[in-house]
Amino acid sequence: MRKINIAIDGPAGAGKSTISKLLAKRLGYIHIDTGAMYRAIGLKVLSQDIKSDDVDRILEILNHIEIEVKLVDGNQLVFLDGEDVTEKIRQPNVSMYASDVSKIKEVRQRLVKIQQELAKQKGVIMDGRDIGTHVLPDAELKIFLTATPEERAKRRFLELKEKGYDVDYYELLDEIKQRDLNDMTREFAPLRVAEDAVVIDSTNLTIEEVLEKVLELFNKVVRNA
Ligand code: DC
Repeated sequence: MRKINIAIDGPAGAGKSTISKLLAKRLGYIHIDTGAMYRAIGLKVLSQDIKSDDVDRILEILNHIEIEVKLVDGNQLVFLDGEDVTEKIRQPNVSMYASDVSKIKEVRQRLVKIQQELAKQKGVIMDGRDIGTHVLPDAELKIFLTATPEERAKRRFLELKEKGYDVDYYELLDEIKQRDLNDMTREFAPLRVAEDAVVIDSTNLTIEEVLEKVLELFNKVVRNA
């Protein structure tokens, strides 16, 4: 069957990664999580004790930073200056740093280049905030996955709890709202629905139901082409 590229965008905690991973397995596609790359830069800024709004110092870092994405057995590993930071970038305190550094034009330019390179081969499911609008405007299937902030905070809470983090639901809800605002109002490639994207609100849907909807859309695109 012909391979296409799929863009999955949406706010934090909407289930993009979960759905993308399952979809990749079902279709034999590659999944690329672009948020992980912004998280890697956020982690670097955090670990160097730099304020996330100190653009000059972040730009300085950007000149020396080395970011690499490797796919091993379908899993994405992220390397920062040669170190595997795949787990570290998931620490809850990295999220806001990732969102803050993602406002910087040069940061985006650097990462978008890597992302477009990775998507040159077809059969890629890429999730993020600006994939359908900016990184892969020609993607043949674009999904905008969303849910209410309360539902997304609940999912984040359960996910982080399970990983052993001591988190507070209301703090996570505040952070999600703050990140939504940050990501939607930034100047460069903000989070928004692409004109040709299909919006799926997963608030009252199970993972399987969302997956079914996406597979239906996928089949339509591949059959009609
Ligand atoms: O998907 P995530 O929560 O891991 O992403 C972390 C932050 O990275 C998110 O708040 C904004 C930024 N990001 C972005 O600006 N563009 C993307 N394509 C992916 C993530």
